[in-house]
Amino acid sequence: MRVSFGLITLLYSAADALSASVPQKHDTLVTPQVVHTFPNGTNMENLAVRASGQILCTIITAPNLYQVNPIVDSPATLVHSFSDYETLFGIIEVQPDQFYVLAGNASAATLTSVQGSWSAFHVNMSSFDDEGTATIDKVADFPDALLLNGMGLLNLEQGLVYIADPYAGAISILNVNTGSHYVAINNSLTIPAAPFTTPLGVNGVHVFQQPAGPLYVYFSNTAQSLLARMPINATGTPIGDAEVVASGIIADDFTFDSQGNVLQAVIGSDEIVKINTATGTVTVLAGSPNNTELRSVSAAQFGRLYNDTTTLFVTLNGGNLGEGGPVVPGAVKMLDLGAALA
Ligand SMILES: *[C@@H]1O[C@H](CO)[C@@H](O)[C@H](O)[C@H]1NC(C)=O
Ligand SMILES: *[C@@H]1O[C@H](CO)[C@@H](O)[C@H](O)[C@H]1NC(C)=O
Ligand SMILES: *[C@@H]1O[C@H](CO)[C@@H](O)[C@H](O)[C@H]1NC(C)=O
Ligand SMILES: *[C@@H]1O[C@H](CO)[C@@H](O)[C@H](O)[C@H]1NC(C)=O
Ligand SMILES: *[C@@H]1O[C@H](CO)[C@@H](O)[C@H](O)[C@H]1NC(C)=O
Ligand SMILES: *[C@@H]1O[C@H](CO)[C@@H](O)[C@H](O)[C@H]1NC(C)=O
Ligand SMILES: *[C@@H]1O[C@H](CO)[C@@H](O)[C@H](O)[C@H]1NC(C)=O
Repeated sequence: MRVSFGLITLLYSAADALSASVPQKHDTLVTPQVVHTFPNGTNMENLAVRASGQILCTIITAPNLYQVNPIVDSPATLVHSFSDYETLFGIIEVQPDQFYVLAGNASAATLTSVQGSWSAFHVNMSSFDDEGTATIDKVADFPDALLLNGMGLLNLEQGLVYIADPYAGAISILNVNTGSHYVAINNSLTIPAAPFTTPLGVNGVHVFQQPAGPLYVYFSNTAQSLLARMPINATGTPIGDAEVVASGIIADDFTFDSQGNVLQAVIGSDEIVKINTATGTVTVLAGSPNNTELRSVSAAQFGRLYNDTTTLFVTLNGGNLGEGGPVVPGAVKMLDLGAALA
């Protein structure tokens, strides 16, 4: 069964209609610098940063995992092409240099995804720097999944990760050591629903805990244009109700800064915003719907080198899913957020 894909760019034209929480603009917007631009026609999805600082990034328009250096004008090195698949989505590190990626059959051109085609793979990067090859093995098939998208680390010791399925509108837990998985969260804030008719519900999913605070799973919902959270126990079971943190943001994936603010990729307005999770205040740090600097920005992660921990690396989808809006090549860009995080 092929199910309908994004319509993300239809959201773009409707972005102005959203005014739930009017974002504040930071005094000076940060100017993105180009790390790597892929060929025109490439849509990017997600990224993860190795302890070495190098960035692993996934492509929607080909089943390819690339590595780029965390510097301006870096070349891209192909790590692996998942030849029986059409697309890659989420990526997450569990143990050091042990990454997990989601592969499936979905087409950006026809805006469809094939149920039964989705799997999670282990990418062992331990030998990549010396030998130029990563070891790849399949962890699990997801016969019921409609589209597997964002990933978040839940429990390092037990090898548990969250996986968002935006079409099914639910979040699963996968044990990367055993391959077992089950739908853990499925509620009114994870499903695709108003204000938009796009079938993309829950999209990004990440766990965060303030010192001595509750353990929360945070998740974005693209159609509902919000960031929400739920208190969970250490193995991912919700122990309280879901609550909206911020709304009025056509949200894709996100990450946290050292103080627990969310840095959110807003794919519908081509912006990176900072969300104060205590107050819900949304502040634009970079990008604009009026230019293509961060066109369809899809995910964000901080650097891990001594000198780039306040540098945010982002992937640009590029904007040619569906109809409407400008189209640019998929890219990895970097934002020196230093002062903007203060
Ligand atoms: C990229 O391709 C799209 C069509 O898919 C076209 O509209 C756009 O002008 C191209 N951009 C560049 C920079 O070549
Ligand atoms: C994905 O589709 C291709 C044909 O485009 C097919 O050969 C391949 O077996 C499919 N892969 C999966 C995992 O369903
Ligand atoms: C990763 O690969 C290395 C060899 O390059 C191997 O020694 C190690 O056991 C592998 N780790 C895992 C978790 O599979
Ligand atoms: C989520 O729950 C609804 C019932 O509330 C059910 O119909 C649906 O199949 C569930 N989705 C998943 C992925 O388990
Ligand atoms: C979390 O809650 C579930 C359901 O009650 C339970 O099975 C699991 O053991 C709990 N995990 C922890 C770490 O308490
Ligand atoms: C985009 O441009 C329009 C028309 O010039 C303007 O009204 C709007 O404020 C601009 N939006 C941003 C975020 O700069
Ligand atoms: C960090 O340092 C390396 C050299 O060690 C340099 O190549 C890189 O550009 C620096 N990154 C930033 C964000 O300043």
